[in-house]
Amino acid sequence: MKTLGIETSCDETAIAIYDSENGIIGESIYSQSKMHAAYGGVVPELASRDHCLKIVNVLKAALGDIKLADIDQISYTSGPGLLGALLIGESFAQGLSVALKIPLIPINHLEGHLMSPLMEFPEINTPYISLLVSGGHSMIVDVMDKGNYEILGQSKDDAVGEAFDKVAKLLDLPYPGGPQIEKLALKGNPAAFNFPRPMINSDNLDLSFSGLKTAVLYKLKDFKNPSDDIKADIAASFQQAVIDVLLNKIKKTVESSKRKTVIIAGGVAANKSLRTAIKDLENIMDIKVYYPSLKYCGDNAAMIAFVGSIRSSVKIKKESSFVRARWPLTELSL
Ligand code: KG4
Ligand code: ZN
Repeated sequence: MKTLGIETSCDETAIAIYDSENGIIGESIYSQSKMHAAYGGVVPELASRDHCLKIVNVLKAALGDIKLADIDQISYTSGPGLLGALLIGESFAQGLSVALKIPLIPINHLEGHLMSPLMEFPEINTPYISLLVSGGHSMIVDVMDKGNYEILGQSKDDAVGEAFDKVAKLLDLPYPGGPQIEKLALKGNPAAFNFPRPMINSDNLDLSFSGLKTAVLYKLKDFKNPSDDIKADIAASFQQAVIDVLLNKIKKTVESSKRKTVIIAGGVAANKSLRTAIKDLENIMDIKVYYPSLKYCGDNAAMIAFVGSIRSSVKIKKESSFVRARWPLTELSL
């Protein structure tokens, strides 16, 4: 069975085809990040218009030699995300599904991230712990079964990716900031500045990053014109503080849940220092750690097609809209 997945929740226009026998057989992604970089962040109206402009060519590129007539069902991200951007994906998906007379399946974007390692590592069995760290979300989730999730902890304020983006802005680095901070941090000393590790010792699994961002802001004020070396030290010290907090929370989660598998997902999971730090837990705790390949850490349609393929029984009215800016993982029913 072939599922065509569509992702337009933010600034990536992506389409992929998942074949239940052969895995991903076609995919294409267009990132708008260069366009938004000029504004220092995603501009929702520009994002919607650009999805409109690019989606047909993204479809053609994803299909390659695959015929639309061979597609069995369409899945698409219906939330959470930018409303206007989501609506472009939804109406495109509705059009295809009506024209091809095939089922249409709205998918929760966060579930896509959570499930993405299963697509690449079929040996992963539920239950497992997922650290979902992206631009909009930071949460520790107990994946008890497909579709059955419990949020064990989450950020009380900024998401991790958001903190990376805001600190990057303070350091005059372009959007998206995460990869820029990671690059600059390679040249810096992670012990140069002792930034706070918010909530590291709290007795719950919640997270907080806005105080850390403010600490960076104040540290920068100590320097009139921070040199490139100082900026690199700040980037490295900030990144280390984030990693220390996440590592500590994952250790606590494994201890209290007794789960034996941990996955990291979402855009920030592309961070190599974070990947290495959490992978190292395999040697300290008796667990197995997985993360998606780099192209499946950030937003992509492969994860949406994959979740569509395991949710194929859902029946919906095609003339309804399922788009939602907010859509908690714990409320998956449509
Ligand atoms: O999952 P994603 O592509 O979109 C959302 O659903 O939010 O995540 C994007 C976020 C951005 O905040 C970006 O700065 C961050 O992931 N990010 C990184 C890295 N690559 C992307 N953060 C830290 N290190 C990276 N290498
Ligand atoms: Zn995402």
